[in-house]
Amino acid sequence: MSDDRHTQRIAIVGAGPAGFYAADQLLKQGLEVDLYDALPTPYGLVRAGVAPDHPKIKSVTRAYAKTAAKEGFRFFGGVALGEHVTRIELLERYHGVVYAFGSATDNRLGIPGEDLEGSYAATEFVGWYNAHPDFAGHEFDLSGGRAVVVGNGNVAIDVARMLVLTPDEVGGTDTADHAIGAFGEATVEEVVLLGRRGPAQAAFTNPELRELGELTRADVIVDPADLELDPDSEAWLASEDAHTTSRKNVEMLRDYAGREPKGHSHRVILRFLRSPLEVLGDEDGRVRGLRIAINRLERREDGRLAAVPTGEEEEIECGLVLRSIGYRGKPVCTVPFDAERGLVRNDGGRVLDDEGERLPGEYTTGWIKRGPSGVIGTNKKDSADTTAKLLEDREAGRLNVPSQADPDAIESWLRDRVPALYTWRDWEAIDAHETAAGESRGRPRVKLVDREEMARVGAGASTEPAAR
Ligand SMILES: Cc1cc2nc3c(=O)[nH]c(=O)nc-3n(C[C@H](O)[C@H](O)[C@H](O)COP(=O)(O)OP(=O)(O)OC[C@H]3O[C@@H](n4cnc5c(N)ncnc54)[C@H](O)[C@@H]3O)c2cc1C
Ligand SMILES: NC(=O)c1ccc[n+]([C@@H]2O[C@H](COP(=O)([O-])OP(=O)(O)OC[C@H]3O[C@@H](n4cnc5c(N)ncnc54)[C@H](OP(=O)(O)O)[C@@H]3O)[C@@H](O)[C@H]2O)c1
Repeated sequence: MSDDRHTQRIAIVGAGPAGFYAADQLLKQGLEVDLYDALPTPYGLVRAGVAPDHPKIKSVTRAYAKTAAKEGFRFFGGVALGEHVTRIELLERYHGVVYAFGSATDNRLGIPGEDLEGSYAATEFVGWYNAHPDFAGHEFDLSGGRAVVVGNGNVAIDVARMLVLTPDEVGGTDTADHAIGAFGEATVEEVVLLGRRGPAQAAFTNPELRELGELTRADVIVDPADLELDPDSEAWLASEDAHTTSRKNVEMLRDYAGREPKGHSHRVILRFLRSPLEVLGDEDGRVRGLRIAINRLERREDGRLAAVPTGEEEEIECGLVLRSIGYRGKPVCTVPFDAERGLVRNDGGRVLDDEGERLPGEYTTGWIKRGPSGVIGTNKKDSADTTAKLLEDREAGRLNVPSQADPDAIESWLRDRVPALYTWRDWEAIDAHETAAGESRGRPRVKLVDREEMARVGAGASTEPAAR
């Protein structure tokens, strides 16, 4: 073990839930932490993913702010690994680097017409309505009468719900101003959620599916014929292997199928066993519909029930297609990457090189370690598993040996490198600005979306060094 273990400093790249949990766990063990994010703002998908009408979930950021207030913590926002700094430069300055940069991109359907005007990734749509600066300039035409959301996960539900909330419901949230305007003018009245497998295989969680049945201005509609389960699904649901979540989902869907619609102005329709084959365009290159395959389920060798086309097809007319079929990690800088799985190559959180050898002092956690699934809390245990490995390596004297570990020099190096560097105090200035703007309008905050405005309000708001 080295003598200076109390001054060992770790860089964590990505200030989402995984990065914050790792930071807290390491600070508690006497390590110092510099938490980096490409954005000026912290909190990852809690700020830029969680639906604006779910403010309680976002209160988890209070715990992260407590972490940030701890001795030994610094935040460096506006610093993108791979753009402003390299992996090697971090290794020259830190005893360890933890990659927690999440899964920034989307999966593609790989079908004709996917890039037509009116066909988008939910990833972009979510970033847009949540004021992520990289997506703020995107435009979504919400003027059609019907939207189709492809996928049966919670993100698909979030996106469908956002499309049918009342203008007052959206207006009272921290939805980006540009999106509040667009939702207010939207003429989408019907949202069809398309699952490629059956109701028993849907990835929704129960509270999210329940919420669809409690919407102010939308009926939830399920065709009872879509709920006739195949024998394999029926047997699985009745078995001890079945997840309670799936059983409850099917119960809830049966309840929806038996409901008399209230005659609301809007509808959310859940369809199952249907996969898109082609996004259809009109003569102007805009989405006019979706050609879809009707599927059946087939048991695979590993026991999984897979969707296979029956050969029957149908068309749905629509003006908007949002694919919500999961997020995907992308390679960053020279961090070893498993392109097939879209993850940082790792063994339980220890980063491995392409030959499968451990790289001293390099770790990973969160979505980029295990893949884009799991709720906020899942990342706490995941980070604990990773930080346990880091601490074990520290005890064994197997951390990285930096050549330039002076913390003050790190900050001045960053100030030279980055056009606008944001410390925690700078973020607090943005936070105060946003919440003050929200207060007068009865909203939790009015988010800044423009990097230049963020820099005016935030970067250099404090002339003091980043250390608290
Ligand atoms: C749309 C959506 C809604 C969700 N809603 C809920 C919910 O209601 N409740 C719930 O419990 N869970 C929800 N989740 C899941 C939850 O958000 C994730 O489990 C969690 O955010 C994953 O944490 P993470 O830290 O791994 O990644 P992220 O939260 O994505 O954080 C990664 C961070 O890394 C930064 N970064 C990326 N690249 C770089 C780079 N090159 N250099 C520096 N920084 C970089 C990003 O800016 C980001 O801040 C939702 C997920 C999505 C997609
Ligand atoms: N309120 C909340 O708590 C909340 C909100 C949002 C997100 N989250 C969490 O964030 C994580 C990510 O959510 P997510 O919705 O992005 O992912 P997800 O839960 O993995 O769901 C992805 C969906 O896409 C489908 N799919 C994948 N490839 C497809 C294809 N080629 N064609 C058609 N359908 C396809 C999947 O079907 P198959 O099952 O057939 O593969 C699945 O239904 C989840 O863990 C989720 O619970 C939580």
